[in-house]
Amino acid sequence: MEKSYLHNPVLAREVISFLNPAPGQIIVDATIGGAGHSEQILQRIIPGGMLIGIDRDEETLRLASERLKPFEGSFKLINKNFKHLKETLKDIGVEKVNGIIFDLGISSIQMEAWQRGFSIKNDGPLDMRMDRNQALTAKDLVNRLSEIELSDIIREFGEERFHRRIAKRIVEERKKKEINTTAELTEVILKSLPYRRNKYKIHPATRAFQALRIRVNDELGSISHALEESPDVLEKTARICVISFHSLEDRIVKNRFKEFKAKGIFKVLTKKPLTADENEMITNPRSRSAKLRVGERL
Ligand SMILES: C[S@@+](CC[C@H](N)C(=O)[O-])C[C@H]1O[C@@H](n2cnc3c(N)ncnc32)[C@H](O)[C@@H]1O
Repeated sequence: MEKSYLHNPVLAREVISFLNPAPGQIIVDATIGGAGHSEQILQRIIPGGMLIGIDRDEETLRLASERLKPFEGSFKLINKNFKHLKETLKDIGVEKVNGIIFDLGISSIQMEAWQRGFSIKNDGPLDMRMDRNQALTAKDLVNRLSEIELSDIIREFGEERFHRRIAKRIVEERKKKEINTTAELTEVILKSLPYRRNKYKIHPATRAFQALRIRVNDELGSISHALEESPDVLEKTARICVISFHSLEDRIVKNRFKEFKAKGIFKVLTKKPLTADENEMITNPRSRSAKLRVGERL
């Protein structure tokens, strides 16, 4: 298998067991990425089934379609933001589906591509857009937002305690020279922090990078809106699985599920979110912060 396919699906066994896909069913993978979950779903819905794979990243969809070649004719790929789930399905003549999976955030394929500007390890342009047709980039935020706005984003979406120091330093440095690359931003963040690099468990710029990525892609707004629409497109007894990697995301999922339960249209199948077991955490480090919540349409 080529390296470009190496996105190891997180909590795949649990997702498959909850979705329980069967031949003839229509399942939506709203974040198809490297198609790891989709491949396993497709194996179970053929013959007669249809997988609808959504991703806002055009390049990712090309890789997904290559991986899914053996299932040609049993999947449709759509290059859109999953935010408008209902309309997206309506556009292809689908009203109800038998299951939905959201595996949020970015894939390792995106993270490792230096040109995309998500990575602290590989220097690249300060971009961070999942959808490269979008106008707003991380470079725009870093060079144009006020110190207070930057500080708020880094605090809220990054849960970074040194948000004020980082924002202050960014504003100081960009007066001297525009901040254009991930390496330049990393350097500015390192200079703003009180401790040396080796004092940290994770790279000290990780939280600020995450915050900018979440803001560039409006990740919280997208999942909140998509979940709001999801009961309308689920058949009775159909399930929805959401894997999140950030406490704010998980809170949105938890609260939406609670809302649907209170309306009597949903059963929540995971009282507490499920996490990866020790073995998966070792073999797939991305799974360490993953939380899976599952709901069922009544
Ligand atoms: C974690 S990866 C999914 C990996 C996939 N489950 C697999 O097994 O290979 C998340 C994917 O969702 C896409 N994505 C994130 N937010 C999105 C959104 N709002 N609309 C559409 N796609 C989105 C990203 O571009 C990325 O490819």
